[in-house]
Amino acid sequence: MFHKNTVRTTNAHSKEKEIMKGWAPYYDWLVKLMLGGKEAKIRKMTVDLAGVKPGDKVLEIGCGTGSLTIAAKKQAGVQGEVCGIDPLPEMLNVARRKAERAGLEITFESGSLQEIPFPDHQFDVVMISFMIFHVPSADIQRRGFAEIARVLKPGGQLLILDRSTEEQAGRSWIEKLFLNFSQPDMRTLLPMLQDAGFVDATVEQTQYKFLTTLRARIKPT
Ligand SMILES: C[S@@+](CC[C@H](N)C(=O)[O-])C[C@H]1O[C@@H](n2cnc3c(N)ncnc32)[C@H](O)[C@@H]1O
Repeated sequence: MFHKNTVRTTNAHSKEKEIMKGWAPYYDWLVKLMLGGKEAKIRKMTVDLAGVKPGDKVLEIGCGTGSLTIAAKKQAGVQGEVCGIDPLPEMLNVARRKAERAGLEITFESGSLQEIPFPDHQFDVVMISFMIFHVPSADIQRRGFAEIARVLKPGGQLLILDRSTEEQAGRSWIEKLFLNFSQPDMRTLLPMLQDAGFVDATVEQTQYKFLTTLRARIKPT
């Protein structure tokens, strides 16, 4: 959630990975501070906007400490199958502990946007939250969207959530205090999604001014 700017070099990305690794034990506290106590509502809203239904098979890419993955499992229920992937073992360890404490069966695996460790046409829903602008290049985003198109079922839904670029006023006090960042507009991703075979793509501001979603689906057969 504390990512900076547009497309970075691989070097900068490795540095960021190192930083993220160190943040794993504190990440949930930082999110709580940044979202000013609205986190549970925002996680539920994200899962609702992704269209997660009981019994769905759901994947979160870049799941970090698993808070959204856990919210998705609560919505998908016992019949649902929910997985989270992340390249950082430190994040996955926190996520696994949280799911265990909550008594929820969730698969957390090592993986990345550009290499999703699942077979074709598995998921009803794929979610990406506060992650898409962490990847070091548009090329990797492009590869990632092709991967998502591969693992989604026909008619499957992709939801991307990230900070709004336009609404400065919606920023929390901690964002204003510590983070003077900007990021590309979600709309820059639309042509890549179209190339990967997604249809019905829409970018919308959520009920929280500082958050925007991009939703798109794979054509039903
Ligand atoms: C800011 S955290 C977001 C965590 C979580 N999705 C949330 O909503 O709180 C970004 C996460 O993306 C992961 N990440 C970075 N590059 C990635 C990539 N190429 N593929 C998948 N995950 C990646 C990081 O390890 C980190 O856990």
